[in-house]
Amino acid sequence: MTMLSNLAPIPELYVSYESAQKLKAEAADLTSWDLTPRQICDLELLMNGGFNPLKGFLSEADYDNVVDNMRLADGTLWPMPITLDVSEDFAERIQLGQDIALRDLEGVILGTMTVTDRWMPDKHHEAKMVFGADDQAHPAVNYLHNAAGKVYLGGPVTGIQQPVHYDFKARRDTPNELRAYFRKLGWRRIVAFQTRNPLHRAHQELTFRAAKEAQANLLIHPVVGMTKPGDVDHFTRVRCYEAVLDKYPASTTSMSLVNLAMRMAGPREAVWHGLIRANHGCTHFIVGRDHAGPGKNSKGDDFYGPYDAQDLFRKFQDEIGVEMVDFKQMVYVQERAQYEPHDEILDKDQVTILNISGTELRRRLREGLDIPEWFSFPEVVQELRNRFPPRSQQGFTVFFTGFSGSGKSTIANALMVKLMEMGDRPVTLLDGDIVRKNLSSELGFSKEHRDLNIRRIGYVASEITKNGGIAICAPIAPYETTRRAVREEIEKFGAFCEVHVATSIEECERRDRKGLYKLAREGKIKEFTGISDPYDVPADPELRVETENVEVDNCAHQVLLKLESMGLIAG
Ligand code: PPS
Repeated sequence: MTMLSNLAPIPELYVSYESAQKLKAEAADLTSWDLTPRQICDLELLMNGGFNPLKGFLSEADYDNVVDNMRLADGTLWPMPITLDVSEDFAERIQLGQDIALRDLEGVILGTMTVTDRWMPDKHHEAKMVFGADDQAHPAVNYLHNAAGKVYLGGPVTGIQQPVHYDFKARRDTPNELRAYFRKLGWRRIVAFQTRNPLHRAHQELTFRAAKEAQANLLIHPVVGMTKPGDVDHFTRVRCYEAVLDKYPASTTSMSLVNLAMRMAGPREAVWHGLIRANHGCTHFIVGRDHAGPGKNSKGDDFYGPYDAQDLFRKFQDEIGVEMVDFKQMVYVQERAQYEPHDEILDKDQVTILNISGTELRRRLREGLDIPEWFSFPEVVQELRNRFPPRSQQGFTVFFTGFSGSGKSTIANALMVKLMEMGDRPVTLLDGDIVRKNLSSELGFSKEHRDLNIRRIGYVASEITKNGGIAICAPIAPYETTRRAVREEIEKFGAFCEVHVATSIEECERRDRKGLYKLAREGKIKEFTGISDPYDVPADPELRVETENVEVDNCAHQVLLKLESMGLIAG
């Protein structure tokens, strides 16, 4: 009996172990490209056959046809441009025909590429054709314009070794490893479920139904490469998946992690996902509502219709080589205590239909509210609660800004004492003067040095916030763009509360507690904020406090009230 074609080994781009050792040594002389995290994901799937039939990063002719017609130059279906974007500087140093070494972030060589093509893509055109709109609210369009290099290089890749992963090693499989696994277990029909979110009961019901409908075994195939910015991190998700896996019959269901970098390209992405699953030995693929959806565009509308992905997939199903199992949205019908596809409920007026959106789930986690058992499994909810404790148990940063002598340090000290009195989280004060005595002791007051100082404070505050503590910062921080950068850094881990201590420069000078304003007026201190150096007044701080005729205690209390209203301290 011949082996089923979906289970026969597929071509990889790796060379033998001996050749790899030799290539590694020779590559020391090659020009190196340090791959970005997204390129590492792409390269892994190129090399292990996940992107079969691609043999490397796209050539210009392939790219043009993929962008315009979803096909390689030879006509093969391929919807996503897999390109090696580099800087202009790097591109200029490369001759066509030259081999380059492809290295990871630590400099480990993963493969080599013979550069056959080099071109400047029309990114506006790429955005419109591939993602449907040149709108930077789309995460991949934002990436294309603001993160990707200006020049693309193309050419065949020679694989030397897989990218190293230290996490969940046993859960990661190459396409050939999965094919071998299915062969060994005698699985012939396999339906894959792609996901970038934790699995809740609706997903389980959907996957059960899909397996039944396709009379197939089930492969839960979550993406752990790159997903939509703001998604639950993959460490948390995999722990959630492992908890849910116990609820499936072990003999019919398996889970494997795929190091894919998603683009959130909706319909085109669904077709791409299908091709990738075909390469992984699957025969069926679940496409649900709004598959790989990027969220709202800059006008607040959806980029794609909820079932566009299903429509496009259906059109290309034969060429993709996997059958689609399509699903409408699953909702919970209270009276029947079960999940049902929304379009199959015929008595909608007589039953209670329940659903919790992703946004609502995040709100409930943030505020520590109930998450009902009909919605998710207690183990999954527990994992999510561990990762996203209510705000009153998370770390946060209070960032004071204002002129020298405005009262930042005094209020910050009072606030620190009040927070320490509460005692539920460690508190660290990063006062401007004190930071300049240690962390930033070598810095002066040029724009460059001030920015460096604020970024260092921001870095320390973000680490404190990440680890569940409270950071109070009290520098002058005169530049708006730097304050915004610090905010973005910290908001990855917890809340940021900017407090503008709005004491006027006249009042600060009148107080002149350290005698510095006098020296600044006399020109003995140069670049003095408010006298001979700029200060960007915060346009939209969480709180503005006036200090004239107000006691310090009252100012600190205003901050506490603000923190309480933000849910950061218990009321
Ligand atoms: S910055 O701009 O945020 O990096 O400044 P910061 O680190 O907060 O340092 C401000 C303290 O340094 C003293 N100082 C000066 N401030 C402003 N401009 C000049 N040229 C300057 N030279 C010394 C001043 O005492 C500031 O202390 P605070 O606590 O703000 O009064």
